[in-house]
Amino acid sequence: PRITFVEPDGAARTLDLPVGTTLMLGATQNGVRGILADCGGCCSCATCHVYVDEDWADRLPPPEPAEEEMLHGAAAERLPSSRLSCQITVAEALDGLVVRIPDRQV
Ligand code: FES
Repeated sequence: PRITFVEPDGAARTLDLPVGTTLMLGATQNGVRGILADCGGCCSCATCHVYVDEDWADRLPPPEPAEEEMLHGAAAERLPSSRLSCQITVAEALDGLVVRIPDRQV
């Protein structure tokens, strides 16, 4: 599935990611800028914050309580479209997804 990451400076990177990886791993392993992922993906740092394109917000499984809680501590403004990219698993249904990376993670 092709996922587009809009980096903090507005540059768009579209990657073809394998099903089952997370948006965070896909981004960090491919050099996408702006995602720190300090905790390595265990939902305890909130430095992998992204904004999901509005068209997609309700097509993703909703955040688990642990993700909700971590989003309260995100450095950039929390919006209704805020998600932690380590908690979103790539699936065929996400082909075409666009996420925007905030200008700061800490
Ligand atoms: Fe730490 Fe996502 S990588 S919460």
